[in-house]
Amino acid sequence: MSLSGRTALVTGAGRGIGRAIAVQLADAGVRSAVVARTEAELDETVRLVNRRGGTAVAISADLSAHGSAAEVVDRAVDALGPVDILVNNAAVVQPLGSTAELDIATWSAAFDVNVFAAVALALAVVPKMVEGGWGRVANVSSGVVARPGFMVGGNAYAATKAALEAHTLNLAEEVRDTGVTVNVYRPGTVDTGMQAWIREHGEGRLSVATYTRFVDYHANSSLISPEHSAGSLLTRLADSATGQVWDVNDQL
Ligand SMILES: NC(=O)c1ccc[n+]([C@@H]2O[C@H](COP(=O)([O-])OP(=O)(O)OC[C@H]3O[C@@H](n4cnc5c(N)ncnc54)[C@H](OP(=O)(O)O)[C@@H]3O)[C@@H](O)[C@H]2O)c1
Repeated sequence: MSLSGRTALVTGAGRGIGRAIAVQLADAGVRSAVVARTEAELDETVRLVNRRGGTAVAISADLSAHGSAAEVVDRAVDALGPVDILVNNAAVVQPLGSTAELDIATWSAAFDVNVFAAVALALAVVPKMVEGGWGRVANVSSGVVARPGFMVGGNAYAATKAALEAHTLNLAEEVRDTGVTVNVYRPGTVDTGMQAWIREHGEGRLSVATYTRFVDYHANSSLISPEHSAGSLLTRLADSATGQVWDVNDQL
């Protein structure tokens, strides 16, 4: 089964895993609306896609703002037509810190991007996908959901990803047998800005053991590339499997 000729909306596509997904979707013949806040990074993603002969349009938006998802989808549809593939990849890892010391507003901000934006985008595109009898939703999660106690000082992040996975698997059942698949993707430990941010800001916020692990990932060169991670998602996206938790480390 091929994705060629389809249209995607990829969030968090200004850098890291999202950018690599957009580029590899272009290689698969998919046109993408790429979404993030930082225009210069989106422009670079568009340039990379164009250089490979693909099509991408940049949509600069803050997905934490309520109402932004519907507006983003309208802009994507105006530019490229109906969205066939939604990749909810945008996320923040903050707030990091001892749970008792964190302001609940910072949890709320994390849920706005990591969960509510993904849900709102799904609400905006899934009905049309069902109507058309074909669609793909992939929600980028984290291995932390399998081991929530493994990231001490990252309680909010772990909770957002667990919520995202529950939403994903529940939605998958709701639309089963419609031609629309909905899956979780755990991308691995990837050499991106998010990892750099944790190394820079995690000391004293994460537990010593957790922080040391993040520093060691980098020092030991055990981080995988965004391209490697994106490639693993792309090999599964066309398939009709639904309601699954895909992990980059799965044996395919
Ligand atoms: N890197 C890893 O090791 C790792 C491990 C497990 C899971 N993940 C997951 O993989 C996904 C991608 O992570 P990454 O490492 O590539 O992160 P990244 O390099 O920090 O990129 C995150 C992207 O999300 C966008 N974003 C963040 N907040 C946004 C907002 N309010 N509105 C719109 N866009 C927003 C960022 O752009 P702007 O800042 O310009 O808005 C950026 O394009 C995330 O879901 C992350 O949780 C990553």
